[in-house]
Amino acid sequence: MKSYILLFFLVSFTLAADDHSFPEDFQFGVGSAAYQIEGAWNADGKGENIWDFLTRKNPNFVSDGGNGNIACNSYNRLESDIELIKNTSANFYRFSISWSRIFPTGHTYLPNPDGIDYYNRLIDGLIANDITPFVTIYHWDLPQPLLEIGGWPNPLMADYFKDYADKVFDLFGDRVENWITFNEPYQICEQGFSEGTLAPGYRQMGIGGYLCAHTLLLAHAKAYEVYNEKYRATQKGRVGITVHGVWAEPESDSAADTAAATRYMMMHFGWFVHPIFSTNGDYPVDMKNRINQLSTTQQGFKRSRLPTFTQAEINSIRGSADFLGLNHYGSVHCIQLANQNDYETPSHIVDTNAECYPNEDWEETAAPWYVVHAGGLRSILNWIRTNYGNPEVIITENGYASSGENLHDCNRVNYMNDYLEQLLHAIHDDGCKVTAYTAWSIMDLFEWDYGYAYGFGLYHVDFTSADRTRTPRMSSYVYKNIIETREINP
Ligand code: NOJ
Repeated sequence: MKSYILLFFLVSFTLAADDHSFPEDFQFGVGSAAYQIEGAWNADGKGENIWDFLTRKNPNFVSDGGNGNIACNSYNRLESDIELIKNTSANFYRFSISWSRIFPTGHTYLPNPDGIDYYNRLIDGLIANDITPFVTIYHWDLPQPLLEIGGWPNPLMADYFKDYADKVFDLFGDRVENWITFNEPYQICEQGFSEGTLAPGYRQMGIGGYLCAHTLLLAHAKAYEVYNEKYRATQKGRVGITVHGVWAEPESDSAADTAAATRYMMMHFGWFVHPIFSTNGDYPVDMKNRINQLSTTQQGFKRSRLPTFTQAEINSIRGSADFLGLNHYGSVHCIQLANQNDYETPSHIVDTNAECYPNEDWEETAAPWYVVHAGGLRSILNWIRTNYGNPEVIITENGYASSGENLHDCNRVNYMNDYLEQLLHAIHDDGCKVTAYTAWSIMDLFEWDYGYAYGFGLYHVDFTSADRTRTPRMSSYVYKNIIETREINP
C-alpha cells in the first residue's frame, strides 16, 4: 500500500514539474525590426523608405518629433549587439531586412552590395554565436519609390514583393531557415492606409485598408509559392506570417456582446488569418457579408469595399504558411453597438459594429492600449486552436512597455512570468501547438508614431548618448534564467 502512495506522489510530482517546464524543443528568442534599430538611414547607398520620407516631410507625424535616422545605431554596432543577444542566452534572434537598404529603389535589378553585406555579416555573426537567425522580410519600411506608384493598395505590389522575397531567399536562404513574410498586416493596412496613424499616413477611410490587405495576402501567397518552387527542396526552411492578435472578450454573456467580440476577432485577426489558415481560403463570411451590405445599402457604393478573390487566388492563399506568427500584448472587452446607419465616412470600427476597450481593472502600461491581461494569451491561443485546426504557432512578439530608464523593471518581469505561465497552460493543459516565444524587444527602440516615448527593451538604450549606450535591465537576467533553466522562476 505504502509503495502505491509513494508512486502516486512521485507521479504527481513529475507531472507538476513538467507543467512548469517548457518542452525540450521549445525555442526562446528576442526581437527587433530594421527601421526601429538600425539608423544609418542614408549610409552606404541605402534608399529612402516611407518612414524616412514621412518623418522628414512632416516631423510632427511622430508624437515626440522623433525618427529612425539614428535610432539605436545598430547598423554601426553589429558585433556588440550580437554580444547583447548572446548575453540573454536566446536561441534565436528575430530581425527584419530593410528593403531599401538592399534594393534602394525597391526594384531587385538594382541591388546595393553594401546593404547586402551588412545582413550577411549579421547572419554569419549570429550563426557563429549559436543564435538562429529568424528573418522578417517586411516590417513596415516600404521603399518610397514603391509608395509613389500607390504602395500596397496597388495590385502590382504583389509581384514586386514576390520578386523581393525571391531575392532575399536567394541571397540569405543558404543560412536562414525561418522566414516571416509580413509583420502585422492589419497595422500596415488599416493604420497605414485607412487611419493614417502609421506611414505613409494615408486616410483612405474604409477603402485603402481593404485594398492594401488584399494585395498583401496575395503578395504573401506568391512569396510562399516561390519558396516552394525554387528553394524549399534545398534550403529546407519554413515560411510564415505574423499577425497582431488582441484578445476580445464579450463584456457580458449576452448573445449580442458575444457576437460583437467574435466579429471583432474575425475582422481584425481573422481578416488575415482566416484566408490562410481556414479551410475556405477567403475572408471570414460574416466580414464579407457585413461590408458588402454596409457598402451597397448604406454607403452608396455600387460594390463591396472589400475586394473579391478569384478561385485561383483562394487556392494559392489557402494553406500558404508553415506556421502562424502571433504578436500578442493585450486584450479588450467588446459590446455590441447600435446599428450604424447615419455616418458619412466608413471606418473599420463602424464596419465591425463592435465597441471594444480594455477593461478598467487591467493594469495599464506606458503604451496606450497595451494593457496587462495574461489570461488573454491563453484565450487567443485556444481560439486559434479551435478555429484553425491547431496550427503551429510561434509567438513572434510579447512584451511590456515602460518609460524612462527603469533598470529594475519588476513590472516587465511580472508581465513576462505571468504571460509565460499562461503559455505553459495553453501548451500542457489545452494542447495548443506553440513552439517558440520571442521577447519584444532586445532593446528600447523607435516606437513608430510614439517615437522614443516608451520602450519594451530587455536593455535600456540611452538615446541622448552619441553611441546609444545599452544597459541591461533586470528582465534581461530573468529571461536568461528562464531560457537556461527552461522554467519560470518567479
Ligand atoms: C508591434 C510591432 O511589430 C513592433 O514593431 C512594435 O515595436 C511593437 N508591436 C510594440 O508596439
